[in-house]
Amino acid sequence: MILVTGGAGFIGSNFVLDWLAVGDEPIVNLDLLTYAGNLDNLASLEDDARHLFVRGDIGDGDLLARLFATHQPRAVVNLAAESHVDRSIHGPAEFIQTNIVGTFRLLEATRAYWGGLAGARREAFRFLHVSTDEVYGSLAPGAPAFAESHRYEPNSPYSASKAASDHLVRAYHHTYGLPVLTTNCSNNYGPYHFPEKLIPLVIHNALAGRTLPIYGDGMQVRDWLYVKDHCSAIRRVLEAGRLGETYNVGGWNEQPNLEVVGTICRILDQLRPRADGLAYFSQVAFVQDRPGHDRRYAIDATRIERELGWRPAETFASGIQKTVQWYLDHPEWVENVTSGAYREWIGRHYAAGAPA
Ligand code: NAD
Ligand code: DAU
Repeated sequence: MILVTGGAGFIGSNFVLDWLAVGDEPIVNLDLLTYAGNLDNLASLEDDARHLFVRGDIGDGDLLARLFATHQPRAVVNLAAESHVDRSIHGPAEFIQTNIVGTFRLLEATRAYWGGLAGARREAFRFLHVSTDEVYGSLAPGAPAFAESHRYEPNSPYSASKAASDHLVRAYHHTYGLPVLTTNCSNNYGPYHFPEKLIPLVIHNALAGRTLPIYGDGMQVRDWLYVKDHCSAIRRVLEAGRLGETYNVGGWNEQPNLEVVGTICRILDQLRPRADGLAYFSQVAFVQDRPGHDRRYAIDATRIERELGWRPAETFASGIQKTVQWYLDHPEWVENVTSGAYREWIGRHYAAGAPA
């Protein structure tokens, strides 16, 4: 079996669902269930004996030791993190705690467990760390996309905390020989995406008749990858990645935010036209920019394609169409996650139209 952390979050729950859809190897899913963790995402696994959910912190060394001793996983896939850049600007402490200290404790517990393995089980063991392209910082227009050799230049408390965790993972390989793999992926979108992030926020706000807040001039560029493609990349790296190596994962799909929002609005205009006949794009409002906002990310995913034969299955056109349709089909999911703490965050963050 494998131990997955953060498996009730956006990418984690998609990963757990896909893993159990393509195979039968059981999962122990360790997740603290912060505001971003949601067991509704895993409701279809309620009676599935292959999925064991444990609520807990990756920073809890005693719990980790118990989980390793009891379940003897052959691999760890670490997705647990604080993941939202804007929240890291408002309050960086939790990012330092989970992304750096938590990853450190997880590495320590993994090292202790792996140190006790012998023979083929020791050889086969893997620790896969899921990271982000944001560790590379911001690209100038026209500059080559991020390759794995690009220097680390994180610009937000979030990306700095992820960069620190990447360095710890690397150091545990070089110092202790821990069999690690790291993936650095671009912006994901798809089902179960928490509506604090651009794409689900825009879909949710559009349908609710609210403004669609665009930071600054809306010309910041991101590379978008359908979440299920990220999940297949993680599976492939776990299966065949070279030890100690990092793999950039991306969709070969750079787009300015304004264009992404325009595409979502056009799909909604077709699938759920506004009662007054106006275009959803009329709801766009330019708001104050994110402090330290990275202008452009782009991923060069040549290595994972050349070495491991992975390429995304979805185009942005097909992935965004599925995504908008998923949100239209799951109003109860959106309703459940946008109550309480969510409303408090939105009220505070977008007060007076300013994200700072
Ligand atoms: P998310 O915020 O949706 O989910 C994070 C999950 O981790 C939640 O279920 C949360 O409850 C859990 N968690 C938080 N702190 C924890 C702790 N201390 N112990 C155990 N569980 C804890 O995030 P996501 O978007 O699914 O991202 C998952 C991973 O992928 C993160 O490491 C993120 O940096 C990385 N990543 C995300 C993207 C993206 O576009 N979303 C892109 C590249 C990489
Ligand atoms: O690149 C990978 C990263 O992508 C992940 O590591 C992060 O966990 C994930 O949150 C995401 O970070 P971004 O900051 O790029 O994603 P977000 O959805 O928050 O914002 C996408 C772009 O849209 C960014 O340029 C900011 C802008 N934006 C965002 C929001 C929430 C807006 O213009 N308005 C908004 O209201």
